[in-house]
Amino acid sequence: MTLLEAELIENARKPFELNVDDPENDEVLIVTDTEQDEQLWQVLLKAARSMGIRPTVQIVPKFQYTHSEPPAMVREAMLNSDVTVFVTTEPVVHSDACMEAQRQHIKLVAMEEITADILAGPAASADYDYIYDEGVRLREIWSRGDHVEITTPSGMDLEASLEGRNGYFAVSKVEEQLEGIDLYVASFPDGEASIAPIEGTANGTIVWDETMHELGHLEEPIEADVEDGYITEIRGGQQADQFRRFLEEMDHPDAFALGEIAIGINPGARITGSPREDKKARGYLHLAVGENTDVGGTLEAPTHIDGVVGGATLKIDGELIVEDGEIVA
Ligand SMILES: [Fe+2]
Repeated sequence: MTLLEAELIENARKPFELNVDDPENDEVLIVTDTEQDEQLWQVLLKAARSMGIRPTVQIVPKFQYTHSEPPAMVREAMLNSDVTVFVTTEPVVHSDACMEAQRQHIKLVAMEEITADILAGPAASADYDYIYDEGVRLREIWSRGDHVEITTPSGMDLEASLEGRNGYFAVSKVEEQLEGIDLYVASFPDGEASIAPIEGTANGTIVWDETMHELGHLEEPIEADVEDGYITEIRGGQQADQFRRFLEEMDHPDAFALGEIAIGINPGARITGSPREDKKARGYLHLAVGENTDVGGTLEAPTHIDGVVGGATLKIDGELIVEDGEIVA
C-alpha cells in the first residue's frame, strides 16, 4: 500500500464512522460512475470493510448534469439502503429521487466531484468535532436572523429577507435538522452553515468569483442582477454565457431564483477549483440558484447550482458575521 493510499483510506473511514450506526447490519451503498477515478470507490470500499461494513458498489453512467435524476436502479438501491454514499462526478443530492430518500430518513453522504487530492487533503482530515460545533453555532445565528446583506470588493451587493426561516448545517454527520428543514444529507469533506432566503425578497447584484458547479474554477467573475428573488441579467465572459445557457436549458423559472446562502466553516478546506472543497472553505460564501425544497424553501427547479464567493462581508440584522472573508461572529 502506498502512503497516498494509506492516507486516502484513513480519511475515507470518516464518513462511515460518522454515519453508519450498525456496521454489521446497516445496508451501505456506494454509487460511482464510469468517468470517476476508480481509486476513489476502491478506497471507500477498503475503508468500510476495515470497519466491518460490507457495502454494495454501483457503477453507473455519468449523470446528465448537476442534480439531474439518477437512473431508476440507483433510486431503487438507495431507497433500500440505510446509508448511500455518492462518489460520482456529478452532484445528485437535490434530485427528486434523493429528496425522497431523505424524507424516508435514508442517510445520504455527498462526495460528488471529489478527487484523490481532496480526499487525501486537509479538508478531509480536519477536526469534524469543531466543524460540528461551528455548524450548530452559525445555524443558530442564521435561524434568529431576519435580514441578510452581503458585499464584496468585486462588486457584489445583495440583500434578502430570512424572516421565519431556520438555518441548516452540513457537517459530514447526517442528523435531524431544525423544524421545517428536510435535509438528511451530509457531504464529505464538509462544513457549511446555510439558509434558504425567503423567495422573492433578494435584490441587488451577485458576483461569483471563485468556483461554480458545471464550470469549476471561474476564469473571470460572473455577475448577476437579482430582482425580487430572480436573476434578470447575467454578465461576464465565456463562462457567464455557459451559465446562462445552462439555466435557460433547464426551462424552469426557478432555475434563475436565489435558493441558498451558505458560509463555509471547514478550516482545512482550500480553494481548489472543485465546488466539493471550495464551498466548505472557512469564511468563503456560496450562493445557489434553483431547487431548495429540501432546505426549507419553495423553489422546485430541475437543478441547484452553487457558486463560491471570496472575501465577502456578510451582516445579519446589521451584525457583522463575516468580514472580508473571515468569520468574526
Ligand atoms: Fe447548495
